[in-house]
Amino acid sequence: MGTVVDAPAVVTEKEVVAENMLGDKKVTVVFVLGGPGSGKGTQCSNIVEHFGFTHLSAGDLLRAEIKSGSENGTMIENMIKEGKIVPSEVTIKLLQQAMIKNENDKFLIDGFPRNEENRAAFENVTKISPAFVLFFNCSEEEMERRLLGRNEGRVDDNIETIRKRFKVFVESSLPVIEYYDAKDKVKKIDAAKPIPEVFEDVKAIFAPYAKYVIIYQAT
Ligand SMILES: *[C@@H]1O[C@H](CO)[C@@H](O)[C@H](O)[C@H]1NC(C)=O
Ligand SMILES: *[C@@H]1O[C@H](CO)[C@@H](O)[C@H](O)[C@H]1NC(C)=O
Ligand SMILES: *[C@@H]1O[C@H](CO)[C@@H](O)[C@H](O)[C@H]1NC(C)=O
Repeated sequence: MGTVVDAPAVVTEKEVVAENMLGDKKVTVVFVLGGPGSGKGTQCSNIVEHFGFTHLSAGDLLRAEIKSGSENGTMIENMIKEGKIVPSEVTIKLLQQAMIKNENDKFLIDGFPRNEENRAAFENVTKISPAFVLFFNCSEEEMERRLLGRNEGRVDDNIETIRKRFKVFVESSLPVIEYYDAKDKVKKIDAAKPIPEVFEDVKAIFAPYAKYVIIYQAT
């Protein structure tokens, strides 16, 4: 009989390399979560501009797939029409394809994972765990005030639908935030502050990912 040995406590280099890989590509992923009206869209644009990330919105990818008229697009469209939830694998596949196609290796994934099932499936399928989760925390009163104020010509932006969107966001996303919080991976932003102040907080978080590193050398 052979000897029984304990599993090595040291993670081998191969295992480390296998993390966060898409094919041959090593990527940095940040999940961006926040309720409707939390201002995360504006801050995502700022992060793209200042820190060189590529913004991937799960909603935009699904809409683009529908618009392309592909077989999958038609399937997605029908599911949404029937009020069904688009399966995680479909959104994950679109995110994966977008990350492989794009030359960048730093991605903001906005509006995903929407729930615990999305999160577990993403990690299972891609083997990618996010560098951190950026959570725009804003009170419902403030988000409601902003949504009603901007209106954007949306007929559905009445109080009732807005509150329903909040409820869905809180119920589905909170478990995701709690999961990553337990791993110390959530960076909470007080999103009720004015936009420039929120960006100051965002900048502090993204400083390690700055596009240009300036080294001052004493001569
Ligand atoms: C359609 O979706 C399935 C399941 O998500 C995926 O395996 C397949 O690659 C997709 N097809 C295209 C053309 O993207
Ligand atoms: C993810 O993988 C774990 C372990 O293999 C499994 O228990 C779980 O059901 C999977 N979850 C999803 C959503 O794929
Ligand atoms: C959001 O901020 C409020 C007020 O600071 C706090 O009570 C609440 O717990 C925060 N929400 C989460 C999910 O951390």
